[in-house]
Amino acid sequence: MATTHTYDALVIGAGGAGMRAAIELSDQVRTAVISKLYPTRSHTGAAQGGVCAALGNTEEDHAEWHAFDTVKGGDYLTDQPAAQLMAEEAIDAIYQLERWGLPFNRTPDGRIDQRRFGGHTAEHGERPVRRACYAADRTGHMILQTLYQQCVKRDVRFFNEFYCLDLLRDAHGAATGVVAYELATGELHIFRAKSIVFATGGYGRMFSVTSNAHALTGDGPAVAWRRGVPLEDMEMFQFHPTGLAKLGVLLSEAARGEGGIVRNKDGERFMERYAPTIKDLAPRDMVSRAIYQEIKEGRGGGPNGDWAYLDITHLDPKVIEEKLPDITEFARVYLKVEPTNELVPIQPTAHYAMGGIPTDVDGRVVEGAAETPIPGLYAAGECACVSVHGANRLGTNSLLDLVVFGRRAGVDAARHVKEAPLGDVPERPTERTLSMLNAVLERAEGENAADIRKELQANMFDLAFVVRSEESLSKMETIIGELQERFGRVAISDKGALYNTDLMETVELGFLLDCAQALVVSARARTESRGGHYRDDHPLRDDANWLKHTLASRNDDGSISLDFKPVKMGPYVPMERKY
Ligand code: FUM
Repeated sequence: MATTHTYDALVIGAGGAGMRAAIELSDQVRTAVISKLYPTRSHTGAAQGGVCAALGNTEEDHAEWHAFDTVKGGDYLTDQPAAQLMAEEAIDAIYQLERWGLPFNRTPDGRIDQRRFGGHTAEHGERPVRRACYAADRTGHMILQTLYQQCVKRDVRFFNEFYCLDLLRDAHGAATGVVAYELATGELHIFRAKSIVFATGGYGRMFSVTSNAHALTGDGPAVAWRRGVPLEDMEMFQFHPTGLAKLGVLLSEAARGEGGIVRNKDGERFMERYAPTIKDLAPRDMVSRAIYQEIKEGRGGGPNGDWAYLDITHLDPKVIEEKLPDITEFARVYLKVEPTNELVPIQPTAHYAMGGIPTDVDGRVVEGAAETPIPGLYAAGECACVSVHGANRLGTNSLLDLVVFGRRAGVDAARHVKEAPLGDVPERPTERTLSMLNAVLERAEGENAADIRKELQANMFDLAFVVRSEESLSKMETIIGELQERFGRVAISDKGALYNTDLMETVELGFLLDCAQALVVSARARTESRGGHYRDDHPLRDDANWLKHTLASRNDDGSISLDFKPVKMGPYVPMERKY
């Protein structure tokens, strides 16, 4: 037996998207949030530089320019109606956050200040535009605090340190609940609800160099995938150009938005060669690839020649102190570099999953090329694929995505609660959950999960990072198969029920392996280069064959099948991406 909890609506994950959905839901229906972290520790807090909207507070701007930039930035894999909707709803979403008390930086006349960010331009690429609203370099942190206050005000019920392990679906496929593990007690719980919103974040921890927190292990996508939901565009992963060298800790693009420059070991501002119009403010995929090219051609710095440098030494110290306080401190603390007078060593870092659980613009999870909604199942934020970011997300569009689509998912999930009957859930946790946990707990000796994780991360960094090829991806696919096989023999030393983090980290590794497999198989199939997915054996974008989304599903024998669906087009005709 397990404790069964019944709510109208359930949100899995207490980051920005989850809490934004919960705010909307709890205004109308009885809502609970399950989170493996305390809400204010969620990874939304690590997003630094800003959240964008065409407010036009400091210079002329339009939602239409924002939509165009999002589509072009996404290398035309972006579903254009979703980008248009996000750009239009962005403005109200920001003012709502302002009304809820988010402490944005201000212009001298008291309006929300805005700064530049990569790929955000005026007049369809003519020049960079100030579109990112920001709270120093702690914007995500402030959004998280603001949304949490609104949840507390509404008495949202939080189940913290609860891990979602399985999704319950009825005989017709509708979502009826989840099975969750309580870290403090080791008890399994069944949560039953009419609407379930997944908002569990990304899966950057499959790479050894990442800006992602330890918790970013792809739980939501993996749980849904194991219950038959295909995953969309998993090959599209973003590598942020300015991670702290060796560590991957994020140094916000806001540094370049404020005038920072990326240099090679010769001190050259090399982005002038790669993106002559907007230079260092080119989108992330282009800057990361440019760094890779500089390194390949022998112009990388550091002991192994694999770093570039972020230069903010020319910025006014007052700007650094007021607008970039956190990242400058990271450089001091982690690398012992003083950014006001020294160059900061950087390298691309795995940052953001553009792919994930397929949804429509109302957050409804949709299956297959026909996009059939799964009744009661929703997803929002990084774990979802709307697809509003296409093949490459623009900086500041992630915080926007989670408030816009988190709200929309909440609205539709509340509507569903009022229309749908409560589905059945079993009295006991699913066999799948029990056998997954018991196999690990009962095995006296076996493989070490940390070793498998390390090998996964190191190999994903070597073989499926900024540059990929058939050779590297097929090798990686074989390695993942071997790691999965070893994972089936994992044993842990902690057999206890209380705070068994060993057990949960093992479960998370299983999720990561699933997401890595979906990523690599999808990347191998996509024989072109587009956005964050660059294949040096297929260096060009191929619209004739690949202007389409991938959908990866797992077969019963563990192999993966791929299906495809068309990109939703709109006013913007695909053209070569030049900046
Ligand atoms: O660079 C940054 O501040 C990151 C922002 C984002 O990923 O949107």
